[in-house]
Amino acid sequence: MVDIIERYNIPPQKFWLREPRATGPVQFDAQSGLWNVYGYPELQEILGDPATFSSDTMRLVPKDAMPAGDDFSLEDFSMEGFLPQMDPPEHGKLRKLAAHAFTPKVIAGLEPTIAALTHELLDAAGGRGRLELVTDLAYPLPVIVIADLLGVPSDDRPLFKRWADAMFERDGGVSLTERSEKQEAEARSSMNAWKEMAAYLAGHVAERRRRPRADLLTKLVEAEVDGARLPDAQVVNFATVLLLAGHITTTMLLGNTVLCLDAFPEQQARARADRSLIPGLIEESLRYLTPFAGLARTTTRETTLGGVTIPADQFVMVWIGAANRDPRRFPEPAVFDPGRDPNPHLGFGRGIHFCMGAPLARLEGRVALNILLDRFDPLRTDPGDPVDFLPSPTMTGVRRLTLA
Ligand code: HEM
Repeated sequence: MVDIIERYNIPPQKFWLREPRATGPVQFDAQSGLWNVYGYPELQEILGDPATFSSDTMRLVPKDAMPAGDDFSLEDFSMEGFLPQMDPPEHGKLRKLAAHAFTPKVIAGLEPTIAALTHELLDAAGGRGRLELVTDLAYPLPVIVIADLLGVPSDDRPLFKRWADAMFERDGGVSLTERSEKQEAEARSSMNAWKEMAAYLAGHVAERRRRPRADLLTKLVEAEVDGARLPDAQVVNFATVLLLAGHITTTMLLGNTVLCLDAFPEQQARARADRSLIPGLIEESLRYLTPFAGLARTTTRETTLGGVTIPADQFVMVWIGAANRDPRRFPEPAVFDPGRDPNPHLGFGRGIHFCMGAPLARLEGRVALNILLDRFDPLRTDPGDPVDFLPSPTMTGVRRLTLA
């Protein structure tokens, strides 16, 4: 069996890829002060019970955990309207409203644009003689799509990249008990990026209030919850989520799926011959190399999970990457099998926070992979230029992948 970790030199931070897990499904890590949950049934319980497992993690971040001596404070970081951090009932209201603006019909209508854009990006790269998947396609494609949808200039994407890198390119891990100099610096640059991005989007939101356009930002400023318009801060935070979630994740999905096709050429041959297999292949890639491997929750009360008692007000890391490899749910989890049916992976989460962008990510993945298979036969990584992975333990994705 191909060992994907060894083959691509996947960094040790992606510990949840290594099997089998000797420890139990629920563990407390005294060093970081975090609870780690790895098991599939335990994750189902967490994601299905937002009253006990709140998404509002900021409430447990001590005020003094913010970088010291700066011109910003916790108050600068209102989480109002930041959907992934919201709990019921506010979460449900905003989600319903956002769903009006972000409909399956709007998404499905994007297919021709995504196909044309994929060809355009590949043509441009072809002129340069070799294809680096991330820079040439997997990064710009989803960013241009979400920027156009929101109505912000996609030419500003060097800015978006700088902000996203500052927020995601972290290898310091998460800890409530101690913060190294490196973690301090990472937190500082991440918060600066957040502030800049919010100011940028606030400018666009103010502009849409003055001059409405046919875009998602306008729909959001005009949308009403309980008869009232959303405050600017909420629109800005929701737009921030879309702009960030709208690119980094699909970038990871595309890179990971190309790696799977490279590592398992027999699966590539099957998908090439029968394109109806591509959706199943994408689902298995989401299970096998889960892009968002770890989510965060906090306990609102004492609870028992997998036979272990977790007190109230604890920070819980929810390892969907590990649960997607739980042998109690997925027979032979280390086998890449696009034919798994059913494949109830948790790659897009589960329950009330289930990924709103899943239809868009699946569409971008299917269209781009079909075109890559059309244009590259075989689709292979360049053995002379090793794949480079994002360092963060919670994110699985390449930042450089050169095609042969
Ligand atoms: C392969 C690509 C993607 C993956 C793996 C992914 C994964 C996830 C996961 C695991 C969650 C649940 C978070 C939680 O429960 O705490 C989530 C939520 C979310 N995702 Fe995605 N996502 C992807 C693409 C996208 C795209 C393209 C968009 C939008 C353009 C998007 C927008 C969102 C939003 C708004 C939420 C929050 C939903 C809520 O809290 O109710 N995602 N995503």
